Parts: sequence; C-alpha cells; structure tokens
Amino acid sequence: MTLGRHPREGGNDKPKAIGWQVLTIAVVFALRSLRSNFFQIYPHLPERISAAISRIMRRSAWRRHYIYAMNPFLQKLQPYPFEKLSALKFGCTPPDLPHIALAIGEPRHLAPAFVLEALCANLDGISQYPLTRGIPELRGTIARWLEQRFRLGAQAVDADSQVLPVNGTREALFAFAQAVVNAGASESVLMPNPFYQIYEGAAYLAGATPVFYNTAAATGYLPDFDAISDDDWCRCRLLYICSPGNPTGAVIPKATLIKLIEKSKQFDFIIASDECYSEIYFAETTPPTGLLEAALACGNTSFENCVVFHSLSKRSNLPGMRSGFVAGDAKILKQFLLYRTYHGCAMPPPVQQASISAWRDEQHVIENRKLYQQKFDTVIEILSPVIKVAKPDAGFYLWLNTPIDDTEFAKQLFTKQNITVLPGSYLSRETHGVNPGHKHVRMALVAPLDECITAAKRLRTFIKGL
Ligand SMILES: Cc1ncc(COP(=O)(O)O)c(C=O)c1O
Repeated sequence: MTLGRHPREGGNDKPKAIGWQVLTIAVVFALRSLRSNFFQIYPHLPERISAAISRIMRRSAWRRHYIYAMNPFLQKLQPYPFEKLSALKFGCTPPDLPHIALAIGEPRHLAPAFVLEALCANLDGISQYPLTRGIPELRGTIARWLEQRFRLGAQAVDADSQVLPVNGTREALFAFAQAVVNAGASESVLMPNPFYQIYEGAAYLAGATPVFYNTAAATGYLPDFDAISDDDWCRCRLLYICSPGNPTGAVIPKATLIKLIEKSKQFDFIIASDECYSEIYFAETTPPTGLLEAALACGNTSFENCVVFHSLSKRSNLPGMRSGFVAGDAKILKQFLLYRTYHGCAMPPPVQQASISAWRDEQHVIENRKLYQQKFDTVIEILSPVIKVAKPDAGFYLWLNTPIDDTEFAKQLFTKQNITVLPGSYLSRETHGVNPGHKHVRMALVAPLDECITAAKRLRTFIKGL
C-alpha cells in the first residue's frame, strides 16, 4: 500500500514573512523618528503611511507571507474540494436543462417533525449557558442508543465518563486532533485517502504530519493496514478511520478493527472512528459494525484508545442542527472535555432536547434508509447497461469508476447535461505518484427519487456518447 506525506510538506517561507514584518517595523520607526523635522507639518502622516503598508500587505501578494507570520500551519491548508469544483466549472455553459446537484453530501430528505417540535418546545432554554458535557439525560440517551445499536449489552457505556455531545462531527473530528497531538514531538496522523478533508486540516493545525493510506479499487476500497510499516505506526499519534467510508461507502470489517485495536496498544496511538454514515445501510439485519463493538469483541471493555464519532446529520436528516457525539475511552474523553471547555463549544439547550428525541426514535431512520435503498436500486438499474456500477456497502454516495479522467468527466457532464458531480481526485492526495481518487467521481444520491432518476437517465446518455 502507498503511504505518503503531503507534497507541500517541507516548504519554509517563514524567513520571508519575518523579513516583511521587520521591514514594516523599520519603516514605521524611521517615519516616527523623522517627526521632529518634516513630519511636524503633517503630524499624522507616519501613522497613515504605516496603516497603508498594513493594508497593502493584507490585500496584496504579500498576504501569503503576512498570514504565514500569524500561524504558519494555516498556509498548509488546501482549498476545499468544492472550491476546486467551482474553478473547474468556471466559464462552462451548461445546456438549458434543470441543474442537478450530486456533488454535495447534504441530506435532502425531510427532517423528522417530532424533532423540530422538540426544538421549538424548548426554545426557552436559550436563556441559559449550557454545560460543555451536556445534560445527563442526553448523555444517558446516547449511551443507551450505542448499547442497543452496536449490541454492547446493558450498561456497557458509562454516560458520565464515556460520552460527550458535540456540535456535529466536523468540529469534533477537527478539535480532537488539537487535543490529542503533542505538537512538538514530530507525530503523525494517519488518515484514509480519499478522505474527508477535515482530517488533513486537523492534523496540520495540530502541528502533526498527515500520512495517507490509500483505499483504492484494488483492495475493494478498503485500507490495507498490514502494509503500514512499524516505523509509520511508531510515529502515529492518531489514526482516523471512516467507516462506512466517504466517498467509497466501504465498511471496515470487525476483524480488521480488532487488529487495529491491538496495533493501537502495541504502538500507543488513538483510533478516531468517524461513523457518521453508520445508519445509512441497505440490509436491516446487517448494519455496519462499529469500533466500540470491535473493542468489546476483543475484551477491551474500557474502550482503551478507541473513540467513535456519530452524528444526527445523515441519520436523521438534521445537518443544520449541528448535533453529534463522541464516545469511548474515558481517559481520552476527560482530556477532550478539558480542551472543549476552553474551546467553548457547548451544545445549545434546545438542540440537546431535540437530540434526545432524535436518538430515542428508530422508525424515522428506517424510513430514511428505505428512501436511499429505493434510489440506489433505481439509479443502478438505469446506469448498469452503460457502465460498471455497484451498490456500496453503506452510505449515500455512488463512487463511480469513470471511463475518462475524472475532472474531464465532471466538466463534460456539466457542460452537456447540467449535472454537477465531484471529481474523485479533489477528495484525495497523490501519494508516490498515485491518486486513488483519479478516474472516480462521487455522486451523492441525496435529491428526491424523481430527480435522481432524471440524473441517472441523463448520465446514461452522456456515458453512451463518450
Ligand atoms: C466522513 C464525514 N465525517 C464527518 C462529517 C461531518 O458531519 P456533521 O458535522 O454534519 O456531523 C461529514 C459530512 O459530510 C462526512 O462526510
């Protein structure tokens, strides 16, 4: 398997940034010292000149160095995939057909009415400051949900020490790296490739090196953890896994998770398991396995080194409510809670109440799954005659292997059929000359069924014409 560090790794523009700062300070100093002569006539000129220099630095090509001087890690952040997509589409004129957006993974099924009612009924809670650890009732509800969903057994999860509410998994996945990485210790953060880009930004801003493990077609889009060297495991402080995967939909089997847990003890790293798509699956009797379930299966009853991330965004079609949780190793969560108390990201009280009602109900989640099931079956049937396409293990993305370069495919599809899909290479990094997202596009089947059918038919016409 290919492991790789970021290609931009190793650049050092810091001296230039410091140089510009020194120059500005010197100019302002010189101007101030001249005040007694020429500047007596124009007393405010030195300040005006220094303000103008600052403005120019903020706006001009020097901006890069100016920002670098603020926090050098910010310069390592890559543009988000959707920015790259806008640039790709710029200047293309689509045909006069209704636009169909398949690029963004934003659920579009209806939010459950009873959750919205709970939100409204508890609006008066907005006049209190919430606790970062959330109310006991929310933590208890989450603990019971985990036990039931992952067959952990009664009271396997301690609601007080092993559960923390978060404002959506995105902020938590990001913040987690800041809390657990030792910035001065040359640590690395391992993450899937292709990936959810937050993992990479989290690693950089925590002062760690992102290291990518590929999840490519050759391994059924699953990671080959056996191929990671002991040296890489030694440097690893944090391992992000994403199961079901975004964009691949692949579910990491329980046996693999158990091996990973053993590795985490051997090499002393933490596993952050992003399971935010775990409730979108196709066979009611075989839901995707989770990391806590694997921990119990190998006798790790305290969930040592294991932390899972769950969300209501996809499960309950509530992406705007910003509600999720982390659960697992109590020692790690204690430190994460400390971090979060300073970070100031407590969940608003009405959202806590609405979340309780959402986690307590499974019927709306079953209905939600049925809608996705129907869309996958229909779309795959329409596309199958023209391209090899298979239902993923779980999740709501089709990860389509394209017959031509993925960016070209996306651009032409937009230009000829007014459909937007996300090129796979925008979701992954080239490691040792290979980009595992290349020749793939991600299509989120989030639109209503009739729109997905129209999209599939237009896509079929497009592929036929290639
Ligand atoms: C893999 C993955 N993890 C986490 C998130 C964040 O979800 P949220 O912050 O809504 O819980 C997303 C959102 O699309 C995602 O795709």
